Formats: sequence, C-alpha cells, structure tokens
Amino acid sequence: MIIALDGPAASGKGTLARRLAAKYRLPHLDTGLLYRATAHALLEAGDRLEDEARAVAAARGLGLTDFDEGKLRGRVMGEAASVVAAIPAVRAALLDAQRSFASRPGGAVLDGRDIGTVICPKADVKIFVVASSETRANRRALELAGQGEKVDYAAVLEDIKTRDTRDSSRSAAPLLKAVDAVSLDTTALDVEGAFAAAVAIVESRRAI
Ligand code: DC
Repeated sequence: MIIALDGPAASGKGTLARRLAAKYRLPHLDTGLLYRATAHALLEAGDRLEDEARAVAAARGLGLTDFDEGKLRGRVMGEAASVVAAIPAVRAALLDAQRSFASRPGGAVLDGRDIGTVICPKADVKIFVVASSETRANRRALELAGQGEKVDYAAVLEDIKTRDTRDSSRSAAPLLKAVDAVSLDTTALDVEGAFAAAVAIVESRRAI
C-alpha cells in the first residue's frame, strides 16, 4: 500500500506520515528533507540557491537516508528549500529516487507537496492535509522553540505565508490537491484526533 500525504508547511503531514508508517509497518520518506538537504549543500558550498547547475548536482548527490535532520529542520532551511524546489530541473533530478522508494515491495508512506499529483499518481491512499495559517504558525513556533531556536511568532507566520505562496504558485509541480485525494483539516484537531482521522481515511480507501 502506498500512502501519499501532501499539504502546506506545518499542516501536520509529517507527524501523520510517521505515525501511519509505524501503524502499517511501512517505510517513510519525508520528501521535504530532499529539498532541504539540496539547499543545505548549496549554502555550505557558498553557492546561490538559484544556481540551477549546482542545485541539480547537489540534488543528484543525495542519498535517501543520510540526512542530518538537526541541520535541516530550522526556519532558514525551510525557506531555502522552497526556493530550490521551484527549479524544475531540481525536481526532475529527485523524481526517480522518490518513485523507487515508493515502489518498494509492500509499499511506503511519502509526504510532501506533489506526492499524490506527480510522484505517486496511483497511490492507494492520498490525503491532503490542511490547517489555517495561524494554527500552522503556532505549531511551527512551538516546534522551533523546542529545538532551541529563538522564535518570533509574527516572523514564523510571515514565513508560512511566503512559503504557501511560492509552493502553490510555482509552475513545476505546485502544491495542489489531487482530484482523488481526501482532505483532512487539522485546524481543530490535536495530534491524536488528526491521527484517528487519517487512519479512518486509510481504512475507508482500503475497503474500496
Ligand atoms: O515539508 P517541508 O517544510 O520540509 O518542505 C520544505 C520545502 O520543500 C517546501 O517549502 C517546498 C519543498 N517541497 C516540495 O516542493 N515538494 C515536496 N514534495 C516536498 C517539499
């Protein structure tokens, strides 16, 4: 079974993907990490995020498991990832690795922005996770504070809105609900409530 979760920044899709992977004993790929790691490699090398040739080389050089999440999770890298993710050639360079992860025997859980639309258009279950921007900013601010980052709520909200606009308006694989995806609005749900709702969606799709 392939489960595809897409949604905007801090919608809760990452937590849901991890929990669903554990429940159904499937491998999980957080595809945002691929774009974050690509951006990180460019910044480390002193290259511009818009340098297509360097960005493609960085994307091609990635493994799927060797992520130093501590370096990739922060606010700056999220924003930088959104910039490199808008380059079509970078997306193309990361396509095969994501598809081969998804085609593992038994299936997989992938979360990102274009899993249900581009990476796994035939996924068995597609969930489009949304939440209000204020709720997402609150969650992201709490998460960053937990990681020891100094947090300015207004700046986090601004970041989220900027990323939403860039991720949704780019021409290459924009954030979009697949026609056959089920929407899950987590605004009024806690982690357990959102997980229960996601499991209900998986079970209802499996029953078809
Ligand atoms: O999910 P995240 O916040 O870690 O993603 C970081 C950025 O990477 C996000 O702003 C857009 C980009 N991204 C993408 O374009 N496609 C994906 N499948 C996953 C992430």
